[in-house]
Amino acid sequence: MTPDRAHLVEAIVERATRYVTEPPDGADPVISLASPAELVEIFEGSVGLALTDSAPAATDPEILAAVDQVVEYSMHTSHPRFVNQNFAGPDPIAVVGDWLGAALNTTGATFEVAPVFTMMETAVLAKLGRLAGFLEDADDPLPALPPGLFCAGGSMGTLFALQLARHRHQPDVTSAGANGDRLAVFVSEAGHYAAGKSAALMGLGTDAVVKVSSDHDGAMILSELERAIDRAETAGMVPLAVIGTAGTTVTAAFDDLEALAGVCERRELWLHVDGCYGGSALFSASQAWRLRGVERADSLVWNLHKMMGMTQQCTALLVREPDRLAACFSAGADYLFQSDKLHGEYDAGDRTFQCARRIDVLKLWLTWKARGDAGFAARIEHAVAMAEHTRRRLAGSGGAFVPMVSGDFTNVVFAWVPPHLRPLTLDAPDEIPNHVRRELHQLAPRIKARMQADGSGMIGYQPVHGLNTFRMICMSPMLQAADVDAILAAIDAAGSDLVGA
Ligand SMILES: Cc1ncc(COP(=O)(O)O)c(C=O)c1O
Repeated sequence: MTPDRAHLVEAIVERATRYVTEPPDGADPVISLASPAELVEIFEGSVGLALTDSAPAATDPEILAAVDQVVEYSMHTSHPRFVNQNFAGPDPIAVVGDWLGAALNTTGATFEVAPVFTMMETAVLAKLGRLAGFLEDADDPLPALPPGLFCAGGSMGTLFALQLARHRHQPDVTSAGANGDRLAVFVSEAGHYAAGKSAALMGLGTDAVVKVSSDHDGAMILSELERAIDRAETAGMVPLAVIGTAGTTVTAAFDDLEALAGVCERRELWLHVDGCYGGSALFSASQAWRLRGVERADSLVWNLHKMMGMTQQCTALLVREPDRLAACFSAGADYLFQSDKLHGEYDAGDRTFQCARRIDVLKLWLTWKARGDAGFAARIEHAVAMAEHTRRRLAGSGGAFVPMVSGDFTNVVFAWVPPHLRPLTLDAPDEIPNHVRRELHQLAPRIKARMQADGSGMIGYQPVHGLNTFRMICMSPMLQAADVDAILAAIDAAGSDLVGA
């Protein structure tokens, strides 16, 4: 860095630090909404958004004006009323841990350039492995070979897991390519689309992914799984893997992993658990039961950037057979993973697909050390308590809010019902008259748009049982009962206004 920009760096750090230590609160808008055209115009007031040809170097004041605009017009995901998605409320320690990792700018590929982080990854993966039951409590907390790896997100973790499954099915797949078996992967219809994308990238095709029916709340129906496997076999397919979901994206439903493990063991299928969202229930002694049976899985992908407030991204893939990672992914590049270099056996890079890899472990390790196991458990338990509070509010709303599913974890999915349609039950969505269905379906996006415009809250909506419904995701530790109440009040106000108009 040239010394003449040191002031600029310090000024940006100061702004970022202020954002972390004094995050937006209930009095601030969750978003200052601007359209794409308005954003272009706004940035014309500083440095412009586009990078034109022969772009000149902007001055410090121009850059700082742009930084202020970035902060002002970005989504405030640490705002207590951001309940839009299954990430929110970054832990400030994780944020600055991320900065520190960036400042040290290295890759997790080799021990020689990441000595501390290599050891940290081992420590964290071993602890996660013990929580999931992949390792025994008495196992070495710093094993020579960690039980997994860090990767760039949950979709990537699922892709890796399915490739590992294929490697077990056909050990020469890495060199010889696919042997022509029409492989099939089973996942519930409420499971994440990463399964289809992974199958597409692996050359299996999305048709290889068999969507198994799920129940009213979003959990896979076991008898349907057995039937789907039988049907696939009859059709000449070769069942490869079952993906059990621990916390579906929309309703936070948990598949019965114990039962899925039984099916997979009996039929010799790979069990991959998508715990991207709900894996973090394992941090809480009172919530861990939701993943009962996960210890019998072959792999588990876990996004710490969802419930645990890590900055995006922070994903661990745990595996039952750590040796398979190198067997499946090693390329043996002799310019990087030299067999005769100091401590080369610790290199993580030849056990994964990626070469350069962000240091995602530092923020997690720092936060975990600072909060302790009890702090991590408290984060999960607060989220569940806020969801319970939301359900109580729905129940006492006089029919203004009607739940769509009966899950009891952190997602509350519900409809806002206009006064002239109350009382309305939504237990049997197929029986809702068409005109009511149409009205409700169209209201949710319009209510959300109103709330975006006035910044009163950010809440997601999506079709559930064919009806656009809201999804309150209770995850952020900033979210308090008063914020839940305020979000519901904002929905009610926007809805009443729209219906009145
Ligand atoms: C259940 C589930 N699985 C997988 C993913 C994909 O994770 P990522 O966004 O890190 O690729 C998500 C993301 O929302 C998810 O909710």
